[in-house]
Amino acid sequence: MREKRKREHVENYLRTTYKGATLLENVFLEHNALPDLNFEDIDTKTFFLGKIVDYPIIINAMTGGSDFSWEINRDLSLIAKEFNIPMAVGSQTIALCDDEECKSSFKIVRQTMGDNGTVIANLNAQAAIEDVKKALDMIEADAIQLHLNPAQEVVMLEGDRHFRGILDNIGNIVEKVGKPVIVKEVGFGISKEVATKLYNVGVRNIDISGYGGTNFIEIENIRYNNIDFSDLYSWGIPTALALIKCRELPKELNLIASGGIRDSMDIVKSLVIGGNMVGISGEILSYLLHGGYENARNYLEVTIHKMKILMLLLGKKNIEELRATDYKIMGDLKDLINNS
Ligand SMILES: Cc1cc2nc3c(=O)[nH]c(=O)nc-3n(C[C@H](O)[C@H](O)[C@H](O)COP(=O)(O)O)c2cc1C
Repeated sequence: MREKRKREHVENYLRTTYKGATLLENVFLEHNALPDLNFEDIDTKTFFLGKIVDYPIIINAMTGGSDFSWEINRDLSLIAKEFNIPMAVGSQTIALCDDEECKSSFKIVRQTMGDNGTVIANLNAQAAIEDVKKALDMIEADAIQLHLNPAQEVVMLEGDRHFRGILDNIGNIVEKVGKPVIVKEVGFGISKEVATKLYNVGVRNIDISGYGGTNFIEIENIRYNNIDFSDLYSWGIPTALALIKCRELPKELNLIASGGIRDSMDIVKSLVIGGNMVGISGEILSYLLHGGYENARNYLEVTIHKMKILMLLLGKKNIEELRATDYKIMGDLKDLINNS
């Protein structure tokens, strides 16, 4: 059942057409006609989960648990290794059993990336601490992502309807697991209020996974016909809004900007308005499934090249300087920030 669902999520993702707005288009960055640096001076390395990575980009959680996802995870992890960037696997709930074949579709990521790679485990935030440890051990992960996905669950026919006690569970995991915990959404965003609650139970890494990219209400809607949920497609906190608001929390909270990150402009703007890292899921998956490994690899290479061009045009030689860039907000984003 879970295996079928994972496959349907990937297939239906490719069939989605609705385009929400991240509101990153409402972030304005000023051109610098006099950058005092050369292109080759630009350094994109950054520190994440105790390791140096070459670019502030994560291939974010998507899949695992079948032959089909073994291939996807193998290809994505080859790319992550080549570019020395972190990669998260999809939810490992499906592999918390004795099925070695199922586990292999997750293990391939660590096998490909080797000891130096940054590999991130993934479970839902209701997971028991023993399962979190199993998921971490399975792929010798550097950290665990715990996903919050109430909007997806409630539109999923067989989805969960119980959401009480999740915050306490997260606090318990943070206290006992002994590895960094990243709490993430799956495309509906994390508000400042939710981020504050998470911060207060000890969470220091939040992936805001905002609205404007992959839309799980649409993905689930394509799976069934009994209720039409298309009127809910506009639900969620746009990525830019979630980031700016969550950035008001203390600096020791690391923010991962994800949800609708497709190109170099999205990456640069997300880092400027508050992200320590950005996460890409749907876009790289599309390149992979439409054109294969080389296509996905080239997408990332070109995106990184353009990211460096934008850093030059802002006059910023490294990620720290980039993150300190001034910006202006316009339009709907400005209205939403002013009303909050
Ligand atoms: C096919 C697919 C499967 C996903 N599966 C998971 C998952 O198992 N666990 C999780 O935390 N997020 C999952 N996600 C959500 C992504 O990690 C990310 O939060 C979300 O897609 C928003 O980013 P995007 O707009 O770049 O796709 C999945 C996304 C896609 C496209």
